[in-house]
Amino acid sequence: MSCILMNTPVSIVQGASRGLGLQFCKTLLNQNKELLVIATCRNPDKAHELKVLESQNTSRLQIHQVDVRNESHINALSEFVKEKYGKVDLLINSAGMLHPSGKGETSLKDVSFEGLRSTFEVNTIGPLIMAKYFGPLLMKGGSTFGLRSEDTKVRHSAVLVNMSAKVGSISDNGLGGWYSYRMSKAALNMATKNLSIELGRGKNRVICVALHPGTVDTDLSRPYHKNVPKLFTTEYSVECLLNVINSLTVSDTGKYLTYDRSELQF
Ligand SMILES: NC(=O)c1ccc[n+]([C@@H]2O[C@H](COP(=O)([O-])OP(=O)(O)OC[C@H]3O[C@@H](n4cnc5c(N)ncnc54)[C@H](OP(=O)(O)O)[C@@H]3O)[C@@H](O)[C@H]2O)c1
Repeated sequence: MSCILMNTPVSIVQGASRGLGLQFCKTLLNQNKELLVIATCRNPDKAHELKVLESQNTSRLQIHQVDVRNESHINALSEFVKEKYGKVDLLINSAGMLHPSGKGETSLKDVSFEGLRSTFEVNTIGPLIMAKYFGPLLMKGGSTFGLRSEDTKVRHSAVLVNMSAKVGSISDNGLGGWYSYRMSKAALNMATKNLSIELGRGKNRVICVALHPGTVDTDLSRPYHKNVPKLFTTEYSVECLLNVINSLTVSDTGKYLTYDRSELQF
Protein backbone atom coordinates (compact mmCIF):
# COMPACT_ATOMS: atom_id res chain seq x y z
CA MET A 1 0.00 0.00 0.00
CA SER A 2 1.33 3.43 -0.90
CA CYS A 3 -0.08 5.21 2.19
CA ILE A 4 2.74 6.49 4.30
CA LEU A 5 0.93 8.31 7.08
CA MET A 6 -1.92 5.99 8.12
CA ASN A 7 -1.54 6.95 11.81
CA THR A 8 -1.98 10.68 11.30
CA PRO A 9 -5.47 11.82 12.34
CA VAL A 10 -6.82 13.67 9.30
CA SER A 11 -9.52 16.32 9.22
CA ILE A 12 -10.81 18.24 6.22
CA VAL A 13 -12.51 21.61 6.54
CA GLN A 14 -14.20 22.46 3.27
CA GLY A 15 -14.82 26.23 2.92
CA ALA A 16 -12.05 27.45 5.22
CA SER A 17 -11.19 30.92 3.90
CA ARG A 18 -13.45 32.85 6.29
CA GLY A 19 -16.13 32.64 8.95
CA LEU A 20 -16.89 29.35 10.64
CA GLY A 21 -14.64 27.28 8.35
CA LEU A 22 -11.59 29.38 9.22
CA GLN A 23 -12.48 29.17 12.91
CA PHE A 24 -12.86 25.37 12.70
CA CYS A 25 -9.25 25.24 11.43
CA LYS A 26 -7.98 27.46 14.26
CA THR A 27 -9.80 25.62 17.03
CA LEU A 28 -9.00 22.13 15.70
CA LEU A 29 -5.30 23.02 15.57
CA ASN A 30 -5.47 24.30 19.15
CA GLN A 31 -7.46 21.39 20.53
CA ASN A 32 -5.61 18.45 19.00
CA LYS A 33 -1.87 18.77 18.54
CA GLU A 34 -1.70 15.50 16.57
CA LEU A 35 -4.35 16.43 14.05
CA LEU A 36 -3.65 17.31 10.43
CA VAL A 37 -6.06 19.94 9.12
CA ILE A 38 -6.63 20.00 5.38
CA ALA A 39 -8.26 23.35 4.69
CA THR A 40 -9.94 23.89 1.36
CA CYS A 41 -11.06 27.09 -0.31
CA ARG A 42 -11.86 28.17 -3.82
CA ASN A 43 -9.23 30.90 -3.98
CA PRO A 44 -6.21 30.26 -1.76
CA ASP A 45 -4.45 33.43 -2.95
CA LYS A 46 -7.21 35.55 -1.44
CA ALA A 47 -7.50 33.55 1.81
CA HIS A 48 -5.09 35.81 3.70
CA GLU A 49 -5.97 34.80 7.27
CA LEU A 50 -5.87 31.12 6.38
CA LYS A 51 -2.43 31.58 4.81
CA VAL A 52 -1.16 33.23 8.00
CA LEU A 53 -2.50 30.25 9.96
CA GLU A 54 -0.71 27.91 7.57
CA SER A 55 2.57 29.79 8.06
CA GLN A 56 2.18 29.33 11.83
CA ASN A 57 1.36 25.61 11.51
CA THR A 58 3.37 24.46 8.51
CA SER A 59 3.41 20.77 9.43
CA ARG A 60 -0.22 20.56 10.53
CA LEU A 61 -2.22 22.76 8.16
CA GLN A 62 -2.38 22.34 4.40
CA ILE A 63 -4.36 24.54 2.05
CA HIS A 64 -5.84 22.99 -1.09
CA GLN A 65 -7.91 24.64 -3.77
CA VAL A 66 -11.45 23.30 -3.92
CA ASP A 67 -14.28 25.22 -5.50
CA VAL A 68 -17.06 23.06 -4.15
CA ARG A 69 -18.94 23.45 -7.45
CA ASN A 70 -16.07 21.79 -9.30
CA GLU A 71 -16.14 17.97 -9.19
CA SER A 72 -12.63 17.63 -10.61
CA HIS A 73 -11.19 19.74 -7.73
CA ILE A 74 -12.92 17.43 -5.24
CA ASN A 75 -11.76 14.30 -7.05
CA ALA A 76 -8.15 15.57 -7.21
CA LEU A 77 -8.07 16.27 -3.47
CA SER A 78 -9.56 12.86 -2.67
CA GLU A 79 -6.86 11.16 -4.79
CA PHE A 80 -4.17 13.13 -2.95
CA VAL A 81 -5.58 12.24 0.49
CA LYS A 82 -6.06 8.59 -0.48
CA GLU A 83 -2.49 8.32 -1.71
CA LYS A 84 -0.92 10.12 1.22
CA TYR A 85 -3.09 9.23 4.25
CA GLY A 86 -5.41 6.44 3.14
CA LYS A 87 -8.34 7.68 5.25
CA VAL A 88 -10.16 10.69 6.69
CA ASP A 89 -11.30 10.96 10.32
CA LEU A 90 -13.39 14.13 10.20
CA LEU A 91 -14.92 16.01 7.27
CA ILE A 92 -16.66 19.34 7.83
CA ASN A 93 -18.54 20.81 4.88
CA SER A 94 -18.73 24.46 5.92
CA ALA A 95 -18.93 26.53 2.71
CA GLY A 96 -22.29 28.14 2.28
CA MET A 97 -24.12 31.15 0.93
CA LEU A 98 -27.39 32.87 1.70
CA HIS A 99 -28.06 33.89 -1.87
CA PRO A 100 -25.87 35.41 -4.61
CA SER A 101 -27.35 38.82 -3.77
CA GLY A 102 -26.19 38.43 -0.15
CA LYS A 103 -29.79 38.60 1.11
CA GLY A 104 -32.52 35.97 1.28
CA GLU A 105 -35.57 36.43 -0.96
CA THR A 106 -38.38 38.16 0.93
CA SER A 107 -41.09 37.15 -1.53
CA LEU A 108 -41.72 35.13 -4.69
CA LYS A 109 -40.92 38.07 -6.95
CA ASP A 110 -37.27 37.80 -5.83
CA VAL A 111 -36.97 34.12 -6.79
CA SER A 112 -34.85 33.34 -9.86
CA PHE A 113 -33.37 30.28 -11.54
CA GLU A 114 -29.89 31.71 -11.12
CA GLY A 115 -30.34 32.45 -7.41
CA LEU A 116 -31.70 29.00 -6.68
CA ARG A 117 -29.14 27.23 -8.85
CA SER A 118 -26.06 28.88 -7.41
CA THR A 119 -27.27 28.52 -3.81
CA PHE A 120 -28.02 24.82 -4.31
CA GLU A 121 -24.65 24.27 -5.99
CA VAL A 122 -22.70 25.55 -2.98
CA ASN A 123 -24.99 24.56 -0.09
CA THR A 124 -26.31 21.18 -1.22
CA ILE A 125 -24.66 19.66 -4.27
CA GLY A 126 -21.08 20.49 -3.28
CA PRO A 127 -21.30 18.81 0.14
CA LEU A 128 -22.89 15.71 -1.42
CA ILE A 129 -20.16 15.45 -4.06
CA MET A 130 -17.60 15.82 -1.25
CA ALA A 131 -19.30 12.84 0.44
CA LYS A 132 -19.17 10.87 -2.81
CA TYR A 133 -15.37 11.15 -2.99
CA PHE A 134 -14.53 11.17 0.73
CA GLY A 135 -17.12 8.62 1.93
CA PRO A 136 -14.82 5.65 1.15
CA LEU A 137 -11.95 7.38 2.99
CA LEU A 138 -14.17 8.20 5.97
CA MET A 139 -15.12 4.53 6.12
CA LYS A 140 -11.42 3.80 6.67
CA GLY A 141 -11.02 6.50 9.33
CA GLY A 142 -12.12 7.34 12.83
CA SER A 143 -9.89 5.15 14.94
CA THR A 144 -7.37 7.82 15.82
CA PHE A 145 -9.61 10.84 16.25
CA GLY A 146 -10.67 9.88 19.76
CA LEU A 147 -14.35 9.81 18.90
CA ARG A 148 -16.44 7.61 21.12
CA SER A 149 -18.50 4.69 19.95
CA GLU A 150 -21.06 3.16 22.27
CA ASP A 151 -21.35 0.09 20.05
CA THR A 152 -18.30 -2.00 20.84
CA LYS A 153 -18.68 -3.97 17.63
CA VAL A 154 -18.04 -0.79 15.67
CA ARG A 155 -14.42 0.19 16.06
CA HIS A 156 -14.28 3.10 13.64
CA SER A 157 -16.47 6.15 13.78
CA ALA A 158 -15.28 8.84 11.45
CA VAL A 159 -17.57 11.86 11.33
CA LEU A 160 -19.07 13.76 8.41
CA VAL A 161 -20.53 17.15 9.33
CA ASN A 162 -22.71 19.15 6.99
CA MET A 163 -23.14 22.72 8.20
CA SER A 164 -26.86 23.25 7.96
CA ALA A 165 -29.10 25.96 9.45
CA LYS A 166 -32.21 25.98 11.58
CA VAL A 167 -34.08 27.76 8.80
CA GLY A 168 -33.71 24.55 6.80
CA SER A 169 -36.20 22.89 9.13
CA ILE A 170 -39.51 22.44 7.30
CA SER A 171 -41.45 21.90 10.52
CA ASP A 172 -39.97 25.05 12.12
CA ASN A 173 -40.76 27.32 9.17
CA GLY A 174 -43.24 29.86 10.45
CA LEU A 175 -42.11 32.94 8.54
CA GLY A 176 -41.54 31.88 4.93
CA GLY A 177 -39.15 33.75 2.62
CA TRP A 178 -35.48 32.90 1.98
CA TYR A 179 -36.55 30.31 -0.62
CA SER A 180 -33.08 29.46 -1.92
CA TYR A 181 -31.39 29.18 1.47
CA ARG A 182 -34.21 27.33 3.24
CA MET A 183 -34.69 24.88 0.37
CA SER A 184 -30.95 24.25 -0.08
CA LYS A 185 -30.50 23.49 3.62
CA ALA A 186 -33.64 21.30 3.77
CA ALA A 187 -32.22 19.34 0.83
CA LEU A 188 -28.82 19.19 2.56
CA ASN A 189 -30.55 17.69 5.59
CA MET A 190 -32.09 15.03 3.35
CA ALA A 191 -28.68 14.33 1.83
CA THR A 192 -27.24 13.97 5.34
CA LYS A 193 -29.95 11.49 6.30
CA ASN A 194 -29.34 9.48 3.13
CA LEU A 195 -25.59 9.50 3.80
CA SER A 196 -26.13 8.30 7.34
CA ILE A 197 -27.92 5.25 5.90
CA GLU A 198 -25.48 4.47 3.09
CA LEU A 199 -22.32 5.15 5.12
CA GLY A 200 -23.86 3.49 8.19
CA ARG A 201 -23.86 0.01 6.75
CA GLY A 202 -21.24 -2.57 7.58
CA LYS A 203 -18.50 -2.57 10.14
CA ASN A 204 -16.87 0.82 9.71
CA ARG A 205 -19.83 3.14 9.99
CA VAL A 206 -19.50 6.87 9.46
CA ILE A 207 -21.45 9.20 11.75
CA CYS A 208 -23.18 11.78 9.51
CA VAL A 209 -24.83 14.83 11.07
CA ALA A 210 -26.30 18.18 10.04
CA LEU A 211 -25.38 20.95 12.49
CA HIS A 212 -26.84 24.40 13.18
CA PRO A 213 -24.22 26.82 14.55
CA GLY A 214 -26.55 29.45 16.05
CA THR A 215 -26.55 32.91 14.50
CA VAL A 216 -22.89 33.76 14.22
CA ASP A 217 -20.99 36.97 13.53
CA THR A 218 -19.80 36.27 9.97
CA ASP A 219 -20.20 37.85 6.54
CA LEU A 220 -23.10 35.52 5.75
CA SER A 221 -25.33 36.83 8.54
CA ARG A 222 -24.03 40.44 8.45
CA PRO A 223 -27.08 42.02 6.74
CA TYR A 224 -29.25 40.76 9.64
CA HIS A 225 -27.03 41.41 12.66
CA LYS A 226 -29.07 44.30 14.00
CA ASN A 227 -32.12 42.05 14.37
CA VAL A 228 -30.28 39.29 16.27
CA PRO A 229 -30.63 39.32 20.06
CA LYS A 230 -27.91 36.69 20.62
CA LEU A 231 -25.13 36.89 18.02
CA PHE A 232 -22.37 34.34 18.67
CA THR A 233 -18.70 34.84 18.01
CA THR A 234 -17.16 32.28 15.67
CA GLU A 235 -14.92 31.15 18.56
CA TYR A 236 -17.91 30.39 20.80
CA SER A 237 -19.97 28.69 18.10
CA VAL A 238 -17.12 26.45 16.92
CA GLU A 239 -16.19 25.48 20.46
CA CYS A 240 -19.81 24.39 21.02
CA LEU A 241 -19.95 22.56 17.68
CA LEU A 242 -16.71 20.68 18.39
CA ASN A 243 -18.09 19.66 21.80
CA VAL A 244 -21.09 18.24 19.95
CA ILE A 245 -18.87 16.51 17.37
CA ASN A 246 -16.65 14.99 20.05
CA SER A 247 -19.68 13.64 21.91
CA LEU A 248 -21.21 11.87 18.90
CA THR A 249 -21.78 8.14 18.88
CA VAL A 250 -23.08 5.91 16.10
CA SER A 251 -26.58 6.22 17.54
CA ASP A 252 -26.50 9.95 16.64
CA THR A 253 -25.99 9.39 12.94
CA GLY A 254 -28.54 11.10 10.70
CA LYS A 255 -29.44 13.69 13.34
CA TYR A 256 -29.96 17.42 12.86
CA LEU A 257 -28.42 19.05 15.93
CA THR A 258 -27.82 22.56 17.21
CA TYR A 259 -24.66 24.02 18.78
CA ASP A 260 -26.08 23.10 22.24
CA ARG A 261 -26.76 19.50 21.12
CA SER A 262 -30.53 19.84 21.12
CA GLU A 263 -32.17 17.95 18.28
CA LEU A 264 -34.04 19.83 15.57
CA GLN A 265 -37.01 18.40 13.72
CA PHE A 266 -36.60 18.10 9.97
N1 LIG B 1 -23.24 32.61 10.19
C1 LIG B 1 -24.40 32.15 10.60
O1 LIG B 1 -25.11 32.80 11.38
C2 LIG B 1 -24.88 30.80 10.13
C3 LIG B 1 -26.11 30.33 10.62
C4 LIG B 1 -26.58 29.09 10.20
C5 LIG B 1 -25.81 28.33 9.33
N2 LIG B 1 -24.63 28.80 8.86
C6 LIG B 1 -23.88 27.95 7.92
O2 LIG B 1 -22.54 27.81 8.35
C7 LIG B 1 -21.69 27.65 7.21
C8 LIG B 1 -20.56 28.66 7.28
O3 LIG B 1 -21.13 29.96 7.17
P1 LIG B 1 -20.33 31.28 7.55
O4 LIG B 1 -21.22 32.06 8.43
O5 LIG B 1 -18.98 30.93 7.99
O6 LIG B 1 -20.28 32.01 6.14
P2 LIG B 1 -19.23 33.06 5.53
O7 LIG B 1 -18.43 33.71 6.60
O8 LIG B 1 -19.99 33.90 4.58
O9 LIG B 1 -18.22 32.10 4.72
C9 LIG B 1 -18.70 31.38 3.63
C10 LIG B 1 -17.60 30.47 3.17
O10 LIG B 1 -18.09 29.70 2.08
C11 LIG B 1 -17.12 29.74 1.05
N3 LIG B 1 -17.65 29.49 -0.27
C12 LIG B 1 -18.67 30.11 -0.89
N4 LIG B 1 -18.81 29.62 -2.14
C13 LIG B 1 -17.86 28.66 -2.29
C14 LIG B 1 -17.48 27.78 -3.34
N5 LIG B 1 -18.11 27.78 -4.52
N6 LIG B 1 -16.47 26.91 -3.12
C15 LIG B 1 -15.81 26.90 -1.95
N7 LIG B 1 -16.10 27.71 -0.93
C16 LIG B 1 -17.12 28.58 -1.11
C17 LIG B 1 -16.53 31.15 1.16
O11 LIG B 1 -15.34 31.23 0.43
P3 LIG B 1 -14.81 32.60 -0.28
O12 LIG B 1 -14.02 33.33 0.77
O13 LIG B 1 -13.99 32.12 -1.42
O14 LIG B 1 -16.02 33.37 -0.70
C18 LIG B 1 -16.36 31.24 2.67
O15 LIG B 1 -15.23 30.56 3.12
C19 LIG B 1 -22.57 27.82 5.98
O16 LIG B 1 -22.91 26.55 5.46
C20 LIG B 1 -23.80 28.52 6.52
O17 LIG B 1 -24.96 28.26 5.77
C21 LIG B 1 -24.14 30.01 9.23
